[in-house]
Amino acid sequence: MEVFRRKSAIRAQLATWRAAGTPVVLVPTMGFLHEGHLSLMRLARARAGEGGQVVASIFVNPTQFGPNEDFDSYPRDEARDLALLEAEGVDAVFAPDAGEVYDPCGQTVVETTELGKILIGKLRPGHFRGVATIVTKLFNIIRPDAAVFGEKDYQQLAVIRTMVRDLDMGVEIIGAPIRREADGLAMSSRNVRLAPADRAAATVLSRALDEAEAMAPTGVTASRLRSHVRARLEAESRARVQSVDIRDAATLEPVSGPLTRPAVILLAVSFGQVFLIDNRVVHPAQEVP
Ligand code: PAJ
Repeated sequence: MEVFRRKSAIRAQLATWRAAGTPVVLVPTMGFLHEGHLSLMRLARARAGEGGQVVASIFVNPTQFGPNEDFDSYPRDEARDLALLEAEGVDAVFAPDAGEVYDPCGQTVVETTELGKILIGKLRPGHFRGVATIVTKLFNIIRPDAAVFGEKDYQQLAVIRTMVRDLDMGVEIIGAPIRREADGLAMSSRNVRLAPADRAAATVLSRALDEAEAMAPTGVTASRLRSHVRARLEAESRARVQSVDIRDAATLEPVSGPLTRPAVILLAVSFGQVFLIDNRVVHPAQEVP
């Protein structure tokens, strides 16, 4: 497994692989890898095939963090990450520093004008512009056939699919299911920053989602489901509920009446300084065409 720090060097390697006609699958990450990230590497391998190339990137992207967010305290451990990627059989890692990625005179951004402003985009203005721009740059540097993203970041996946469609990027986007700890907490690089009492309290997210999933087929309205989940989260005194939304799972349009199609419940909850998200797609007993 080779680690590349320079765009020019990884481009040269990729050109050789492309010339040989083997598929290239990219998994972008910000590092501090956990089992969720590693499950993406396995999906990438399955898509690339034994003869294909799996490329991971590790880059804590400054442009997707707001001025008062956790860019500086975001956990980092590159040596451990590289050992994990090597053990997964990843072929190449792109791990540049910020100076290599962003030109100080850069002035071009990529933005999904509607999707980027709602939900998390409202809580974190500019976040999805930073994500869409870095993912575009990674696609342009690596030029993969396919790329894998987790459903944990549901809106991010929707932003990336929309951007690829709107800008004819020609990269196949593969979504990967959420990986959880044994007690249900969705795996996240930020979980290590939770104080022990908050770590225990944070299981309320998945418990609230379990209840909502069980309620969805009973004919309950979306608004009722949303208020049930909110009340459940608010009963946990350590949780600061940032948002609870229920949206059409395909379009992210708001829904309020009885469920007629799959809906996604999206949670954003802070514990101390740590911002956590989780989501669940829930289904009505019967879909109305
Ligand atoms: P990061 O948070 O490191 O996540 C990298 C990828 O892993 C994302 O596609 C994310 O959805 C996925 N992932 C994280 N936790 C997961 C879990 N518990 N189960 C399944 N997949 C999980 O998302 C980013 O980085 C960045 O925004 C990035 C796309 C790299 C752009 O900077």
